[in-house]
Amino acid sequence: MQVIWVASIFAERMKVLGTETAFEVLAKAKALERQGKNIVHLEIGEPDFDTPKHIKDAAVKALYAGYTHYVPAAGIQELREAIAEDMAKSRKIEVSPEEVVVAPGAKPIIFLAILACVNPGEEVLYPNPGFPIYESVINFVGAKPVPLPLEEEKDFGLDHEYVKERITKKTKMIIINSPENPTGGVLTREDLKLIADCVANRDDVLVFSDEVYSRIIYEGEHESIASFPGMKEKTIILDGFSKTYAMTGWRLGYGVMRKDLAQKITQLMINSNSCTCAFTQIAGVEALKGPQDSVKEMVAEFKKRREIIVSGLNSIKGITCKKPSGAFYVFPNITGTGMKSQELSDYLLNKAGVAVLPGTAFGAYGEGYLRLSFANSVENIKKALNRISEAVEKL
Ligand SMILES: Cc1ncc(COP(=O)(O)O)c(C=O)c1O
Repeated sequence: MQVIWVASIFAERMKVLGTETAFEVLAKAKALERQGKNIVHLEIGEPDFDTPKHIKDAAVKALYAGYTHYVPAAGIQELREAIAEDMAKSRKIEVSPEEVVVAPGAKPIIFLAILACVNPGEEVLYPNPGFPIYESVINFVGAKPVPLPLEEEKDFGLDHEYVKERITKKTKMIIINSPENPTGGVLTREDLKLIADCVANRDDVLVFSDEVYSRIIYEGEHESIASFPGMKEKTIILDGFSKTYAMTGWRLGYGVMRKDLAQKITQLMINSNSCTCAFTQIAGVEALKGPQDSVKEMVAEFKKRREIIVSGLNSIKGITCKKPSGAFYVFPNITGTGMKSQELSDYLLNKAGVAVLPGTAFGAYGEGYLRLSFANSVENIKKALNRISEAVEKL
């Protein structure tokens, strides 16, 4: 019997749920590969390095030591303690293990925090271009997304006057992300101070600070808004293991927030995931407490590739590219090619065999840009640059 699906089978809220285009472009690129085409993958945002051996060894050991059962919903105590200790070192803030919630990846914390704290009709400020899941989940809970445009002329930082004007009585949450996906921009101390000042007299506003690229930074040191006076209580810090330790497939991330918030997020964890995989959490303890050489080596390698990709893109007619200060993405301006972002990314995939993302995959303010990940080998980056150059030359 053929089942005829009617639209009403789905809840209304599904109409406003967005997606992450990187996975769709990856699927298209894989389909082309199955047809025999050679594709260079610069679309997906994950380190091309393997998870360091000592972290894998810790997971294997944990599996055989019996970490194969349910564990506490907020995370195993050892990992929550390791994260709290790391917060003191990396952010200079005092955090107790009760203020940490471990989740299967960083992404669920975005979903659960917005679900737990934002009511329908309330406003959430978020970076645009920015990680697409913010806008998607804000819409999903019936709140109003208020984009904060990150402009190239401002090094993809914040427009202070614009931010101040957008904060209203209805503002419930301000999302920031530094280093930023997709621009590679890093918010300045002044940017962070602006946000801290804006919420100084507001006990009804939270800052959600996505810091998953905090250790992938090329100039200076990462600074968290939670380290500003009075801000720890108002901030939810998001970090994880995916990017720093090349552990995207392990699904391990965490949020740091005050205890009452942590309890609510934990309740949502109980209602959704029960808990995060037990043996990966033991690997997480090793990642944080073990040697950090692999992180340093990976960042040094990304830094070399950054030079190659930025100078290569700048030598292509119609393309200009700023040097990112963090993460492993470049966000070149492609307006000089005369093509729209989506058009150019389709053209590059189909005609040049290079998978990239249109800037619009990160919001309306991404028009005129592409996002390319340089978490790929120098050889592949050079191959992609040659292919892009030849294809753009033909336009
Ligand atoms: C800014 C940002 N936040 C969160 C995430 C999600 O990370 P995870 O894979 O740990 O869920 C990503 C992944 O691309 C990201 O770029």
